[in-house]
Amino acid sequence: MDITFLLNGEPVSLTDVSPTTTLLDWLREARGLTGTKEGCNEGDCGACTVMITDEAGSRALNGCILFLPQVQGCHVTTVEGLRAPDGSLHPVQRAMIDHHGSQCGFCTPGFVVSMVCAHLNGARDHDTQLAGNLCRCTGYAPIIRAAEAASAAPVPVHLENLSFHCSENTTGGSGGLAPRVLHPTHSDDLARWYAANPQATLIAGATDVGLWVTKQFRDLGQVAFLNRCADLRGITDAGDHWRVGAMTSLTALEAHIAPHHPSLGTMLRRYGSVQVRNAATIGGNIANGSPIGDGPPALIALGATLHLRRGDTRRSLPLEDFFIAYGKQDRTPGEFVEAISIPKLPDTLRCYKLSKRFDQDISAVCGCLSITRQGQTITSARIAFGGMAGTPKRADAAEAALEGAPFTADSFHSAMAAMAEDFEPLSDMRASAGYRMQTAQNMLLRYFHDLSGQTTDVSKVSA
Ligand SMILES: Cc1cc2nc3c(=O)[nH]c(=O)nc-3n(C[C@H](O)[C@H](O)[C@H](O)COP(=O)(O)OP(=O)(O)OC[C@H]3O[C@@H](n4cnc5c(N)ncnc54)[C@H](O)[C@@H]3O)c2cc1C
Ligand code: FES
Ligand code: FES
Repeated sequence: MDITFLLNGEPVSLTDVSPTTTLLDWLREARGLTGTKEGCNEGDCGACTVMITDEAGSRALNGCILFLPQVQGCHVTTVEGLRAPDGSLHPVQRAMIDHHGSQCGFCTPGFVVSMVCAHLNGARDHDTQLAGNLCRCTGYAPIIRAAEAASAAPVPVHLENLSFHCSENTTGGSGGLAPRVLHPTHSDDLARWYAANPQATLIAGATDVGLWVTKQFRDLGQVAFLNRCADLRGITDAGDHWRVGAMTSLTALEAHIAPHHPSLGTMLRRYGSVQVRNAATIGGNIANGSPIGDGPPALIALGATLHLRRGDTRRSLPLEDFFIAYGKQDRTPGEFVEAISIPKLPDTLRCYKLSKRFDQDISAVCGCLSITRQGQTITSARIAFGGMAGTPKRADAAEAALEGAPFTADSFHSAMAAMAEDFEPLSDMRASAGYRMQTAQNMLLRYFHDLSGQTTDVSKVSA
């Protein structure tokens, strides 16, 4: 297929490229731009961080799990493109030198590009911004000091208002009988094509699919890239609910939802890293059917509805009904996730993510609870867990134990006992079955204490 974009200010036109060539491989092997490093090749270390600019602004992404069609019409800035035309260093580069932020230097280009994106966007939460960049030798303190030191400097003129040209076409675009690659600009074209080619692989943010290529060396065959379907992206106010397009990134969802449901906002800040959240979509997080995805338990607890489309046929279902069994979802061939509706409710949601590392780690258990009361009586309970079954799943028995009961510790202890009927968790590398059950039960009690005004977040407890 043919792809055009800007690379460090210069136009690039590629013909006949494989659609699953990663930007990282192309930069290093075809262009010799070896400043962008390959560490893990699976989105975990940030060594490959590049800056991508389009109509939504500039953001950091992992080049190792970014396919070339995903940068169609964008401006790609690599570490080689950060210097000013007169050769002077970016303030972040200068600060990294002044504060001794680099030793072996392998991670440094990735850090610097992440820091430049944060600097450009005025982000000062450096720990969060750099959680997706790993350094083995320097230690993070000098790097954070450098980020702090650079934050007051103005954005260099050459990085302000970077141009891009999203209108360029790619071959294998919308229409056609059965092209190997579809890169539509509207979901109507996607719907028609996917209904006729249901065996094709859909690619949204590629934070899962990317690894099928870089780690499993799979040939994906026919593929459709969804990144240019602007009508599938974004959040609209629909009166009593928000409609969230399938292609909405986790970053955009976090920004929208955090003021309404702060606990979900806090959890989403621990979803992958900035680079992962900038790429990952909520549609992909649901469609992959993972039992340990962080989005579904929270959305189920909020009573979300899933909207699916096949050709011109649309249907909607409660999100929990989508997940049938491990690896099996209620999705017919050629059907795709179009959107999700989240009801606007008073905030009683709490999301508890338990993982071995605080940042950039998949949940061992993710519990999301939303319980409403009239006076002291519990009138409804929606409790959903990830990591406790082969699918994201509601805790029916625990919910039943709570509904109609008084909002007391005793009621929650009864619900904890009832929860033993709800799940038969597995033991795996993340946690044992016993640990999972115990911690999930404890999350119920934590919710009670949390809503009773006690501090339950260990990161906020002090002596
Ligand atoms: C380093 C790293 C950290 C991660 N951390 C977390 C984490 O903390 N929490 C978490 O939940 N996940 C995490 N993930 C997993 C991943 O980010 C999510 O599952 C993500 O939301 C997938 O979305 P995507 O847009 O990248 O999907 P893709 O990789 O593009 O697709 C995933 C699957 O969904 C299908 N698909 C995508 N969009 C649609 C659609 N609209 N309709 C039908 N099918 C579709 C694809 O065909 C594919 O089967 C992490 C991944 C990485 C690499
Ligand atoms: S090489 Fe590690 S995130 Fe890309
Ligand atoms: S400076 Fe060596 S890995 Fe960071």
